[in-house]
Amino acid sequence: MVFYFTATGNSLYIARQLDPEPLSIPQLLKKDDAELVFSDETIGIVYPNFGGSQPPVVREFMKRAVLKTEYLYMVPTFGFRAGTSADTAKELCDSLGLKLSLVRGLFMVDNYLPNFDIASELQMDKKVEAQLAALREDIASRKEEVILMTEEEKEERRRHIAERRAKQAAERGGKPAPDLSHGKMFVITDVCIGCGTCAKVCPEGDYEIVNGRAQHNGGFCMNCLACVHNCPVNAFRLAVPEKNPEARYRNPGVGLSEIIAANCRR
Ligand SMILES: Cc1cc2nc3c(=O)[nH]c(=O)nc-3n(C[C@H](O)[C@H](O)[C@H](O)COP(=O)(O)O)c2cc1C
Ligand code: SF4
Ligand code: SF4
Repeated sequence: MVFYFTATGNSLYIARQLDPEPLSIPQLLKKDDAELVFSDETIGIVYPNFGGSQPPVVREFMKRAVLKTEYLYMVPTFGFRAGTSADTAKELCDSLGLKLSLVRGLFMVDNYLPNFDIASELQMDKKVEAQLAALREDIASRKEEVILMTEEEKEERRRHIAERRAKQAAERGGKPAPDLSHGKMFVITDVCIGCGTCAKVCPEGDYEIVNGRAQHNGGFCMNCLACVHNCPVNAFRLAVPEKNPEARYRNPGVGLSEIIAANCRR
C-alpha cells in the first residue's frame, strides 16, 4: 500500500511505480478519522521534500491515520538536497509511535521556482529509473535504512542556509525578507482565462473563480506550487525573483487530469 501527495507529478510517478493504485493523501483527508485505518505488509509514503521536511498535508495524514504494518517506508522526492528529510521523517514517526524502516530520497526535477530554472533542470539526467530499481529491491528485501545527518553535515547545512540568507538579504539591500506565507509567494496576472485549473489542483481548496478570474483566498496555502506549474496559460508570476518565469513543470509521465484527481478538494 502506498500513499502519496504530489504538486507537479514527481511523487505520483514514483508512487505508481511502487504500487499501481497508490492512494492520494488530499483525497483521504476528506474522510473521517474512523475511515483512516490501514493495514498491509508494507506501507509507503511518497511526497515532495519541502525544506527537509514533509508537506503539511502529509504530516496531517500521518497524525490522523492509523497505519498498521511491519514495514513502513518514506520516500521524499527532491531536486537538490534531501537535507534533513530522514531526520524529520524519523522524528515524526517517533512522535506517533510508528517504527520507520526505510527513508529514501529520490533525486528528480526541482520544481522550486525561486531557486531553479526548469529548463536547466530538464537538461539533467538524474537517473530516476536506476534510483527506482534500487528502491524497489530494497523494499522487496525489507532493508532497514534511515540515514540521519551527521553533526558535520548539519553544520554544513547551517552554513549553507546562513550564506544563502545573507546573499538574499544583500540582494534586497538589507530590507526584511518578504512574507511568503499563505499564498503571498505568487500573483495571478491578467493572462488568467478563468479556466479553474488552479482551483482543481490546489490540495487546500484555496481558489474561487470570480468574474472569470482566479481569486486566491490565502487559506492554508503551503506553497506547493501545484497551481503555478499547472496553469495552462502560465498566468502566475512569483512575488520574489524567479529563475525562469517562462518555464513550468509537470512530470512527463503524469497528466493534468491525474493531478486534479489527486488534489481536488471539492
Ligand atoms: C515549497 C517547496 C520546498 C522545496 N524544498 C526542497 C528542498 O528543501 N530540497 C530539495 O531538494 N527540493 C525541494 N523542493 C523541490 C521538490 O521537493 C521536488 O521538485 C519534488 O520532486 C516535487 O515533487 P512533486 O512533483 O511530487 O510535487 C521544494 C519544492 C517546494 C515547492
Ligand atoms: S489555472 Fe491559470 S488561467 Fe486557469 S483560472 Fe487559474 S490562474 Fe486563471
Ligand atoms: S494555492 Fe497553490 S501553492 Fe498554495 S496550496 Fe494551493 S496549489 Fe499549493
